[in-house]
Amino acid sequence: MKVVTIVGARPQFIKAAPLSRALRQAAIQEFLLHTGQHYDYGMSQVFFDELGLPEADINLNVRSGNHGQQTGQMLIEIEKVLLQQKPDAVIVFGDTNSTLAGALAAVKLHIPVAHIEAGLRSFNRQMPEEHNRVLTDHCADLLFCPTETAVKNLSKEGLTAGVHLVGDPMYDAVLLFSQAAEQKSRILETLSLQPRGYLLATIHRAYNTDDPQTLSALFHILQSLKETVVVPLHPRTRQKLADLGLLGASAHSNLRLIEPLSYLDMLVMEKNARLILTDSGGVQKEAYFFAVPCLTLRPETEWVETLTDGWNTVVGLNPAKIHHHVHSVTPPSTPPQPVFGDGRAAEKIASILYNQSARR
Ligand code: UD1
Ligand code: UDP
Repeated sequence: MKVVTIVGARPQFIKAAPLSRALRQAAIQEFLLHTGQHYDYGMSQVFFDELGLPEADINLNVRSGNHGQQTGQMLIEIEKVLLQQKPDAVIVFGDTNSTLAGALAAVKLHIPVAHIEAGLRSFNRQMPEEHNRVLTDHCADLLFCPTETAVKNLSKEGLTAGVHLVGDPMYDAVLLFSQAAEQKSRILETLSLQPRGYLLATIHRAYNTDDPQTLSALFHILQSLKETVVVPLHPRTRQKLADLGLLGASAHSNLRLIEPLSYLDMLVMEKNARLILTDSGGVQKEAYFFAVPCLTLRPETEWVETLTDGWNTVVGLNPAKIHHHVHSVTPPSTPPQPVFGDGRAAEKIASILYNQSARR
């Protein structure tokens, strides 16, 4: 069996790492297509170097652009590759423009689409991610869900065929790489930080970064917290802060604005934070895996399981709420529950793919 796996953005390299291993173990031939949506070393190549991902077989170098231009360019180029490679299935991850372009290119060529992280919903149609995931799910033949909530969401949209509850490959990745992170990362020493002696924040959602007033308000909230806040800056956020003249403003404050971290460094930073503030999907989950309290800087979350027992709290950009939680939060007494699978999601996906192709 031969698959084309489509990746393009940071979280997709991380999800692809355990899957790529599992595909090799199942003797499934993989052609790895990188759309080039993310291209800085720290947003792309570092993950290939660190996580043992094979080098991409092709990089389309599509890079940044408006949604239509970026997605359209990917669609044109992916179609060419699929016509040439003739895979038995195309694998796409999550909810980025690379995901949608891959799913559309494949479904129009009648190539089965396998969507990993199917069924997630924010029910917020302002988010480009929501368009991408809804459309991708409706193109997909195999819908690999990380949680029971995702299965229910699909069922409400009439999608029940080809749905498999397998768990979350991001949990697989955390189990796979945590030990290496502990052994290899020196990030706490490099940043002179003590375990539980800092807050960790990440911000990159379009609705938090693209409106100057919103981003400025968020920046000032973080700056008003009375302890060290380490912020590995997504390039989108760095650019927007620079446009607002706010990058220099952090020099003598509690904010440590740093370059994006490698995955191993990020795992160590998450595990040792007193509290995480984020608008990232992946980071919310990792906070839960590591039992670190999290505040979600969004109006809602797709990862509703993380809200259980107060491990994660949706605070939006409400300064009073954020201050209240930052100052009062203590880890809940009930530990996080194993709602994201057993760490073998990638193995299960590979096995289902293999069996499906054997049946055709
Ligand atoms: C994308 C995904 C988002 C995902 C995120 C993961 C879409 C619509 N959004 O958002 O769902 O959560 O990736 O990180 O697909 N840039 C660089 N260098 C890079 C990459 C980006 O400078 O290597 C800058 C460019 O100015 C670009 C901006 O970041 O315009 C946004 O990049 P883009 O890939 O369009 O969206 P993300 O915000 O990264
Ligand atoms: N991540 C990383 N370095 C960073 C920030 C995030 O390695 O500086 C990892 C993080 O641990 C998680 C993934 O990137 O595994 C989340 O990606 P991101 O926040 O970009 O996207 P989202 O999950 O919101 O789609």
